[in-house]
Amino acid sequence: MTKSIKIAPSILSADFTRLTDEIQAVEAAGADWLHVDVMDGHFVPNITIGPVVVEWIRKATRLPLDAHLMISDPDKYAPEFIKAGADWVSIHPETCRDPSTTLRTIRALGAKASIAVNPDVAVERIEGHLGEIDMILMMTVFPGFAGQAFIEDVLPKITKVRTIISEGKLPLLVETDGGIKADNIDRVVRAGADVIVSGSGIFKTPDYAETIRLMRKAAERV
Ligand code: DX5
Ligand code: ZN
Repeated sequence: MTKSIKIAPSILSADFTRLTDEIQAVEAAGADWLHVDVMDGHFVPNITIGPVVVEWIRKATRLPLDAHLMISDPDKYAPEFIKAGADWVSIHPETCRDPSTTLRTIRALGAKASIAVNPDVAVERIEGHLGEIDMILMMTVFPGFAGQAFIEDVLPKITKVRTIISEGKLPLLVETDGGIKADNIDRVVRAGADVIVSGSGIFKTPDYAETIRLMRKAAERV
């Protein structure tokens, strides 16, 4: 079976002194989306980028921008990221007073809504939201930093999500994020991932086009 996947390089692993070049390099190398990790030093112990930077990134690329909000107050900031140019917005439900309201707001502002599931969160926790989202983001590391080791225990959970989607004929994508590289991408694709985030797995390699080609080849063999 040939499965078409989307590859979303995470700019968290890019060289920020050359951000435009890095973004244009992955776009030229065949990336499908650009994953933007937003951290506030509160929900996760790291601080990354805000809406001002996203506004500039929006001008540097035509790729869909996939904003992953790892912040304590997505109700306040999701609209700002959408205004800055985010096409997809993932939220961690544990950060929302009422995830349904947050998701509804994201969609009302014209972006696609996604729920992130941490490695230690049961899939059942998000089942009530399936009608309110366009994608499920399955974390294969605990959010906070690039370059962490892939947590394989999440694989059966990805398969479970894929089964729920198939059985319900739901129009949802499954994204996987954390520790994914050319040499293990086949495992998340086999489990059911459609969108693959990779930070260090792409930006820390010498030839982005070759890395993305290898990733697609590995995924096609699944
Ligand atoms: C982790 C982030 C990931 C991370 C991916 O908190 O959400 O998107 O930057 O980086 P790698 O692929 O290096 O694990
Ligand atoms: Zn991410």
